[in-house]
Amino acid sequence: MKYALLTVLILVEISSVYSQLRYWNDEFVPWIPKYANRTYMKCPNKSCTPDPLKHQWTREDCCVCRAKPLWEVPVDTTVRLQLEYTRRNGMAVVFSEEQNKSQYYSLYHSQGYLSQIPINICDFPNIVRIDLQSNQLTEVGNLSCLSMLDTLDLSYNKIHFIGNDTFLSLTNLRELRVTHNGLKALAPATITASSLQIFKADFSYNDMDSIEFSNMISESDFCNITFASNNISKIVNTNNFEIDPNKNYRGGIVDLVGNSFTTFIDFEKLGITDIAILGKVLSYGFVMPDVKWTCDCHMEPYLELAEDVIKRIWRDYFNISCWNPPEYRGKTIPDIVKEGRLDIFICNLTEVDKCPQNCTCFTQPKERRTVVDCSDVGLTELPPYVPQGNNLTLIFKNNNITHFGNRSYLKDATVLDMSGNKVASFSPEAIEMLPDDIALNFADNNFKKVPRAFQTLNPCKSKFGDVTIDCNCDTEWIKHWADNRGLKQCSNMSSYVCETDHGLIPVDEISTDDICKQENFMITSIISIILSLLSTLIVIIFGVVYLFRYEVYLLQRKYFLRNPASKVGCFLKYDAFVSFNDENDELRMWVLNVLVRHLEASGYRLFVPCRDLPPGSIKEEEILEQIINSRKYLIILCDYYQQNDITWTQIEWKYIWCHFRQCMERNIIVINFDHLGTSEQPDQKLRAFVRLGYDIDFSNRKHDLIFTVKLRLELHLKVYFSMETKRLNSWDTI
Ligand SMILES: *[C@@H]1O[C@H](CO)[C@@H](O)[C@H](O)[C@H]1NC(C)=O
Ligand SMILES: *[C@@H]1O[C@H](CO)[C@@H](O)[C@H](O)[C@H]1NC(C)=O
Ligand SMILES: *[C@@H]1O[C@H](CO)[C@@H](O)[C@H](O)[C@H]1NC(C)=O
Ligand SMILES: *[C@@H]1O[C@H](CO)[C@@H](O)[C@H](O)[C@H]1NC(C)=O
Ligand SMILES: *[C@@H]1O[C@H](CO)[C@@H](O)[C@H](O)[C@H]1NC(C)=O
Ligand SMILES: *[C@@H]1O[C@H](CO)[C@@H](O)[C@H](O)[C@H]1NC(C)=O
Ligand SMILES: *[C@@H]1O[C@H](CO)[C@@H](O)[C@H](O)[C@H]1NC(C)=O
Ligand SMILES: *[C@@H]1O[C@H](CO)[C@@H](O)[C@H](O)[C@H]1NC(C)=O
Ligand SMILES: *[C@@H]1O[C@H](CO)[C@@H](O)[C@H](O)[C@H]1NC(C)=O
Ligand SMILES: *[C@@H]1O[C@H](CO)[C@@H](O)[C@H](O)[C@H]1NC(C)=O
Ligand SMILES: *[C@@H]1O[C@H](CO)[C@@H](O)[C@H](O)[C@H]1NC(C)=O
Ligand SMILES: *[C@@H]1O[C@H](CO)[C@@H](O)[C@H](O)[C@H]1NC(C)=O
Repeated sequence: MKYALLTVLILVEISSVYSQLRYWNDEFVPWIPKYANRTYMKCPNKSCTPDPLKHQWTREDCCVCRAKPLWEVPVDTTVRLQLEYTRRNGMAVVFSEEQNKSQYYSLYHSQGYLSQIPINICDFPNIVRIDLQSNQLTEVGNLSCLSMLDTLDLSYNKIHFIGNDTFLSLTNLRELRVTHNGLKALAPATITASSLQIFKADFSYNDMDSIEFSNMISESDFCNITFASNNISKIVNTNNFEIDPNKNYRGGIVDLVGNSFTTFIDFEKLGITDIAILGKVLSYGFVMPDVKWTCDCHMEPYLELAEDVIKRIWRDYFNISCWNPPEYRGKTIPDIVKEGRLDIFICNLTEVDKCPQNCTCFTQPKERRTVVDCSDVGLTELPPYVPQGNNLTLIFKNNNITHFGNRSYLKDATVLDMSGNKVASFSPEAIEMLPDDIALNFADNNFKKVPRAFQTLNPCKSKFGDVTIDCNCDTEWIKHWADNRGLKQCSNMSSYVCETDHGLIPVDEISTDDICKQENFMITSIISIILSLLSTLIVIIFGVVYLFRYEVYLLQRKYFLRNPASKVGCFLKYDAFVSFNDENDELRMWVLNVLVRHLEASGYRLFVPCRDLPPGSIKEEEILEQIINSRKYLIILCDYYQQNDITWTQIEWKYIWCHFRQCMERNIIVINFDHLGTSEQPDQKLRAFVRLGYDIDFSNRKHDLIFTVKLRLELHLKVYFSMETKRLNSWDTI
């Protein structure tokens, strides 16, 4: 038994030695990398033979990691440079005992107190390898003369910063190690500048808290860039490096083990609009297995990628599990994906993101939506703002909202749940703002009117529940809406009931006449037409009446105000006051010689101002007194009776009119001496006499002027006189 065990052990030992030997014996064959200018590389023939089972790992990939420069295989042939300190402060020079300048040199100096690169290093431009571990270097220094440099190891020094011009001219640099330095920052594009072809870079065990995006993405092929065991929690992009979707980024692995990440790299934040292009563009992956993963919205987009793409980019994806949120701690992400639960990857939004107080808001990439849940928080109106998002799911149910007001975010809503509120009124703008295909729920509210703007909504996506509405002509559209857009198929969504005089009637059973009577319409329209005609008429009548107010007065006086009570009992001194323009000679002669003589001959008592005014009296007073004392007024119109400048006739006319208005039994007799038309008469009152034909036309007389005047003078005297007067007049004219 013991021997058997021993034999097994020996066999195991022999086989491991043999495999070692095989490796050592593996022949390195010349290899020219596809994506780098290196002609001195040798790649192991056997161990880099591609394994048909591992498609991902090609010979090229293998050689990038395992090939060695020809001066290293099979044995190191470089000439080691000697180093000599020149000062105590760590300055040194290098020298070589061999003088063959075309040889490859290497410099190795460890555990020293070198404070800078040896000052004469440029004397040996063929240096291919520098190993200065565990010295006192505080900066890399100027190495630009060493264009052959292939390997540089500056680990265990005190370099805290490396600028991006440091390695720029080291076009042959292949391996770079700056571990355990307390390195705080690596400038953007320090190791990935286009002139560089670094295959391996190691910055592990440093003090970096962030890493530049541009230091992780390289166009040239590489094997492994490691930033392991720093304190990196975020990836930054200070020089706004962008991935070009038309380029290919070849490479191996970016090792981020042992840092402080909580989420996977947010490529979207780093300028990649479509995460799907990552799989096409990047052929390498990121290793971050020990992260306490926060399973939130940032992770979700990657999990939607094709599996082979995730596997490649996110190397340890199959072994990771959630740490946060606590409810999913320990659940492995591949399990969640298999269960199809990508919807649990959400990001909570806070008041900083405009989430209303007491509400729950989150983004949910799987559903491409932002959810605002304000159920049961005692809202009395719509929240003034919500987080921004394109597909908003707004849940405002079970609150006390009374008015559906206008909010700009409504236009971005795809779901709106207003059920269980007290909405009684709607802002028309708010409804117009709702997208056509929004899923609405207005069940259990208080409104009795459904605004017409709702007819653009899809009745199969708009739930109103049982609504009792005040039906009238404005409500007719609901019927058509229901018929046309198939509300019947979606009758479980809403049922509208009309409140009528005959009780509650479902909208789809009600007839148009029930809610909107046609004859009512006719009557009301006829009434309104009549009313409008009437009002126009009234306006016109009033206008006309105003225009012809004196005519109206005269007519009124003639037909309505004839006052029988006014007895002629009172004694008046004159029968008539004769008013005319006595400056007109012709007129004066006619008045005095014809008219007055005839009338006085017939027994009329006349007052003629130019004849009867007592000399020395105050003319105006006297005229007024005689106007009062006269029963009638005889006005003889001529060109000059009423002119613009004030004359005595005007004053007389003023008093006459005034007195005429006051006393009903007074009358005015107008004789149109010059046959003036209405338009020629400036005074509106006199014009009214002419227009109504109340004047006695002088020129057109048929020899009966005096008779007519007498008749008029007589008219309102005692009626029984009239026959006698006529007889008298007919006699008089003969
Ligand atoms: C290799 O060098 C040639 C010229 O020396 C240059 O044109 C080419 O761009 C280089 N290729 C790479 C990948 O650096
Ligand atoms: C490389 O290995 C293969 C077998 O794995 C062998 O046939 C070939 O001869 C080797 N090439 C060289 C140059 O040794
Ligand atoms: C210098 O070194 C090269 C390569 O090591 C060798 O080929 C050459 O013969 C040497 N020249 C002299 C003069 O030793
Ligand atoms: C580095 O040294 C080269 C000469 O070897 C010089 O031309 C260059 O200016 C130096 N660069 C810096 C940044 O000092
Ligand atoms: C080099 O680093 C500086 C900051 O240190 C940055 O402004 C500059 O853009 C970087 N250069 C390149 C080519 O990225
Ligand atoms: C990357 O390289 C470092 C050292 O060069 C090594 O420790 C680490 O394991 C490598 N990472 C991967 C994922 O191969
Ligand atoms: C790592 O960084 C965090 C802040 O990101 C800091 O609180 C913590 O002290 C750092 N840890 C170490 C070891 O530097
Ligand atoms: C997952 O982790 C286990 C141990 O924790 C390890 O054996 C296995 O190889 C890992 N799988 C992958 C794909 O990394
Ligand atoms: C979001 O908030 C809810 C409740 O406030 C909490 O249970 C959940 O864990 C949070 N989710 C994330 C991803 O932060
Ligand atoms: C909104 O949702 C629809 C369907 O879910 C989706 O097609 C669309 O891309 C989403 N819009 C945005 C901006 O996420
Ligand atoms: C809303 O939150 C505040 C504190 O943030 C609290 O005082 C108030 O009672 C809450 N209202 C409701 C209805 O929960
Ligand atoms: C709504 O108002 C009623 C009183 O009108 C009150 O009893 C109820 O608590 C309120 N609901 C909420 C959620 O604030």
